Formats: sequence, C-alpha cells, structure tokens
Amino acid sequence: MLIKVPAKSSCNENQVTDEKIYQQRRSLLKSMGFMGAASSLSSSHVNAFDLFGSDDKTFVTQALDFKPAANYRSTEQQTPESKVISHNNFYEFGTAKSDPQANAQGFKVDPWSLTINGLVEKPLTLDYADLFKKVALEERIYRLRCVEAWSMVIPWVGFSLAELIKQSQPLSGAQYVAFETLYDPKQMPGQKSRWTGGGIDYPYVEGLRIDEAMHPLAFLAVGLYGKTLPPQNGAPIRLVVPWKYGFKSIKSITRIRLTAQKPPTTWNILAPNEYGFYANVNPEVDHPRWSQASERRITKGGLFDLSRNPTQMFNGYSEVAPLYAGLDLKRNY
Ligand code: MTE
Repeated sequence: MLIKVPAKSSCNENQVTDEKIYQQRRSLLKSMGFMGAASSLSSSHVNAFDLFGSDDKTFVTQALDFKPAANYRSTEQQTPESKVISHNNFYEFGTAKSDPQANAQGFKVDPWSLTINGLVEKPLTLDYADLFKKVALEERIYRLRCVEAWSMVIPWVGFSLAELIKQSQPLSGAQYVAFETLYDPKQMPGQKSRWTGGGIDYPYVEGLRIDEAMHPLAFLAVGLYGKTLPPQNGAPIRLVVPWKYGFKSIKSITRIRLTAQKPPTTWNILAPNEYGFYANVNPEVDHPRWSQASERRITKGGLFDLSRNPTQMFNGYSEVAPLYAGLDLKRNY
C-alpha cells in the first residue's frame, strides 16, 4: 500500500471525486473490515482513500472494525504505539532496531496471498481482503518478550490461529505447523545477501507443534492499536505466540503448511545452541550469553530507564503449562 499523505491544506477526496465513486470506495473499505477510516484517519491528516492511487512512499494504516476479546485483557501499562512501531526486529529490512521503520515504508501488502496447505483436507488461499474477514477480528492485549530481554505490552487486532487452521480441516497425520515469510529481495533489502540480512538464509521460517498452534492463545495479528499493521510490525499478517520468545512470532506470512515432520526454524538453523525450537519464555534457562532472569519493559523510560522486571515462566501465560507436561524444558529450550 503506497499512499500519499496530502499536505494539511489539500482538500478531501470527497471534494474532488464524483460522489458515487466516493461512496463505492467507502463501502469497499467497510467490506474489508476497515471502519470509520475516513473520519479517524482524516483527523490525523491522512486521507484513507489515497490507497486507490499514489506513487508516494509513505505507508498508511487503516482503522479496523473489531471487538475487544472477552478475555486476554490487561491492566498493565501498554507500551506507547510510537515505541511499538519504532523499536523492531525485522531483519528483512535491516538489523538495527530503527531500520524496519526507516526502510519498510514502501512495502506493498495489497495484493497479498496467504496459502494454508500440506496435510489438510481443504487447502485455502486468502487474498488481502480475506485476511480481515475470514475470521471475526478481536483485540487482545498481550505481553511480547524478546529473547534479547526486552518486553512490551501491545494491543493486537486479529484472530485465533486455531480458527483459521480449523477451516482447512487438518488431517490426522498433521503434527506440526510451518510458517514462511514473504520472499521478495526487491522489496526486502535484507534478503539480498547474508551480509545485509544478519546472516539469515531467507525466507524466514518458523514452526509450532500442532497442539501449540491450536492453543487458544496462539494468534494471527492483522493490526495493532486498532489499525492495520505497519510494515515494520509484519504487515499484513503475522503470528503472535505470547508465551514464547518473540522470534517465534514470524512476520508478513505467505505460507502456512501442516506437516508430519518438525519444520526447520530460522534462528535454530543459525545458532542451534542458542535458540531452540520451543523457545518458551523461561527465567530458569539462560541464553548462553546472557541471563533470562529479568527483562527491560519498554514502556515510558527509554534508554535511560534501567529498571527491570522479573521474567515470568511462559511470560506469565501459565495456562499453556499442560502442553509441556513431562517435557524437560532445560533440554527442550
Ligand atoms: N519475522 C521475520 N520475518 N523477520 C524477523 O527478523 N524478528 C522476530 C519476530 N518476527 C523477525 C520476525 C523477532 S526476533 C522479534 S523479537 C519479533 O518479530 C519482534 O516483533 P516487533 O518488531 O513487532 O516487536
């Protein structure tokens, strides 16, 4: 979505466009799950309808239509949106925390194609509009804990991964779920070489056991803070697995495949002694190069706030513990 941000003085599109075309565009946006886009975005001097034609390199997010989830709420202080969208790991757009925001604004998310196939009765292909309407959208507030020992509290918009997988009707042999990020070195400069992309052999891949993927907490996010995802956070659709280290939460997904074998995962390929397949948040299993006992919560303090919180087992989501009954979590890190 390459969209022009008009100067504050420029007129609204309804002043220059035929009324019928204007109304058609409004109903199209609404049918895609975008709500109140004109009013909410015009107040931030962004014209939502510019998504129908522009050559500028500014990505514009759209207001989403969703319900707050009945559970998965939180009273914890949320990380300000400005930090959620400017402190990112998305090596396809560079390895510094500020690189994704700086380098991803021209990223095109529409058209998009997400396939769900492999050991399923009913393979699915979702286009961009389907991502916002295949399953009803809800908002969930989750803690995100990076393996680097920083954390955030983020209001995501999306739907349970299980709901989508169920629609593909998994076959009994499906033991794992493999995920893949878009491979497009023209758009993603980090994919051009291992030097630019932090040593990763792209595309970025991730995986879950099928019972982890079907757990109600596993989430596919299409938005944050009530709007579609910005590219630096994994537009148009990314995984959020809140009880695992952030690297499991793969961004900009184009393929979900149900398999019988454990799929390879990017950070495990790169450094198997440092990053396991499970990657459950665990204060008792240190990274070989640093402690995981505590974390820096990115809320208001910035670089000079050195206060730390104790790390919680499974990042505080103890309801997932039965998934790992009998498993040695020190060996299966
Ligand atoms: N997905 C892809 N495709 N590429 C990446 O580099 N980084 C991971 C994960 N998903 C990454 C990715 C890591 S290390 C983290 S901590 C989270 O995204 C960060 O998500 P955020 O930038 O939205 O906070």
